[in-house]
Amino acid sequence: MGLSSVTQTVLVTTVVTAVTVVGAFIYKKWKQVKIPSNWERVGSVKKLHLYPLKSGHRVELQRAEVTEVGIKQTQDDEKAFQLRDRVLVVYGAKDNEFRTARTYPKMVFIDVSVHDENHFAIDAPTMRTLYVKIPSRDDSKVANVKWWQDERIQAIDCGDEAASWFSRYIIERDSGLRLGYNDASQRRDITKTHAKLLNYYKNLSNKSIGLFTDLTSVSLVNQHSVNDLNKRVGNSDITVEQFRHNIVVDGPDLQPYDEDTWDWIKIGDNVILRNVKDCTRCILTTIDPENGIRHPDREPLKTLEQYRKHSGPEKSPRLGNNLEVTRTGFISIGDPVYIARYETK
Ligand SMILES: *[C@@H]1O[C@H](CO)[C@@H](O)[C@H](O)[C@H]1NC(C)=O
Ligand SMILES: *[C@@H]1O[C@H](CO)[C@@H](O)[C@H](O)[C@H]1NC(C)=O
Repeated sequence: MGLSSVTQTVLVTTVVTAVTVVGAFIYKKWKQVKIPSNWERVGSVKKLHLYPLKSGHRVELQRAEVTEVGIKQTQDDEKAFQLRDRVLVVYGAKDNEFRTARTYPKMVFIDVSVHDENHFAIDAPTMRTLYVKIPSRDDSKVANVKWWQDERIQAIDCGDEAASWFSRYIIERDSGLRLGYNDASQRRDITKTHAKLLNYYKNLSNKSIGLFTDLTSVSLVNQHSVNDLNKRVGNSDITVEQFRHNIVVDGPDLQPYDEDTWDWIKIGDNVILRNVKDCTRCILTTIDPENGIRHPDREPLKTLEQYRKHSGPEKSPRLGNNLEVTRTGFISIGDPVYIARYETK
């Protein structure tokens, strides 16, 4: 006595569905990276820097919230709203391309702060304070800003007054540049644009990426690496600020470039970061963030190129790490920093 064909179909479908669901679950578990259990203390957080405007001046924090897309001010610091890392960008009105201090060094003087619940305050030398209303997708234009590798990132336009202020300060004209805001409602997709890089850095993915950052959400450097670089440049006073990382780690037992080998980083009790890419360095590091002056001999990049050249697809020399946020939370200056390596099975 055979089962009716309807019953048979139902049975087969049920079995296939069950196998697929269980299989997908096992595959997901297997693919999930295992957070290590053995941590080694290497130092503490020495500095926390947030850059609200890409290429602008830093905000120095005592405490920060680490979100999936980067660090953020906390409510103890700012009640009205909290500044995020690289939440604003300057771009061309015609070409939609982003602008940086590589071309316009005076951008490093632009200060961003919170004015009230819905306005940024923006200051620069010789300019009156600009108040920028936080724009929303409903009432403002959204531009597709051209990024590295021809990636496009959506920016909500901050209006004509901001556009003319930035144009006057940066290019001394009445128009030409626009200011864009990232409302953090969309993650970037680098799967097509950064295929070469993704192929080289196997653990880099969409999940690693920040707002208007070059690439990842968070970056970190070890103070001793910059100290060593200074010795090599020769009697030099290159600062960690020149490299524009978010987190500076220091500790009595740290050796220069130790951070190259850190796979995982835990800060305090909670926050866990994963090293997904070496931080490769560009010409911006040759511009002094305090006076906007380019180093006459292209230092420290020239020296870095001599001993920290990278063999990856980007070619430029490396200093520090690009991190993905695995576990969000709060971090403060002085917090212990622990590291772990990938566990071999
Ligand atoms: C990357 O993100 C995009 C958009 O969020 C998504 O369509 C795509 O599947 C993601 N790719 C990977 C490999 O996660
Ligand atoms: C990526 O992560 C895995 C662990 O999930 C590790 O074994 C591997 O070495 C990492 N690859 C790179 C290039 O860092």
